Amino acid sequence: MKYNLTEIVELIKERRTVYPENFGPRKVHKEQLELMLESANWAPTHGHTEPWRFKVFSDHALTNLMSELAEVYKESTSAEKYMESKYLRYAKRAEKSSFVVAVCMKRHDQTKISELDEIMAVATSVQNLMLVASAYGIGTFWSTGSIGHERIHQYLHLEEKDRCLGFIYVGYPEGEWPKGKRNIWLNKVEWNQ
Ligand SMILES: Cc1cc2nc3c(=O)[nH]c(=O)nc-3n(C[C@H](O)[C@H](O)[C@H](O)COP(=O)(O)O)c2cc1C
Repeated sequence: MKYNLTEIVELIKERRTVYPENFGPRKVHKEQLELMLESANWAPTHGHTEPWRFKVFSDHALTNLMSELAEVYKESTSAEKYMESKYLRYAKRAEKSSFVVAVCMKRHDQTKISELDEIMAVATSVQNLMLVASAYGIGTFWSTGSIGHERIHQYLHLEEKDRCLGFIYVGYPEGEWPKGKRNIWLNKVEWNQ
């Protein structure tokens, strides 16, 4: 095999969610994000529909997106549950993140492929993106809060059957690379012979 399996498995295990609050000042380059997105494009795809679509936000557009997400949070949260700190967190996330990528699923017309398959294909593309990020030492955070809101659907200019599947925050972590935690894989596997 031409690949170094030890390194590949280590990369998979070491990929980590890093919350934007833990991003430092170092900025991710556009070329790095491009390789992450190019790798995302090589995800498996049932029927070759390639349903993943990515909308990249940075600078002014990122500030704008975060204020939209903050407003959606305010609008959709009851007075008892509403937390001002959570509302204000979005503006800080805009400052801290190099990029935020809206992950979308394109639903093709007259397709035989199920929506579930299309969603799974997009999820695998996100994993590709996150693995390449980790190889650079870049942290990612996949956030799914507020994705089902009509206001977000419109903000992203999605067509009726398309879906937003989350926002990926991208940035270099400040300090130590976080440690991961998983239960034993063997307990999740049933062998049949
Ligand atoms: C589809 C999906 C959606 C997620 N959405 C959120 C989210 O809305 N908020 C959050 O704090 N973490 C979210 N996460 C990230 C998980 O919290 C994170 O993967 C988990 O804590 C394990 O950490 P690790 O990614 O470093 O292994 C999401 C992860 C996935 C796969």
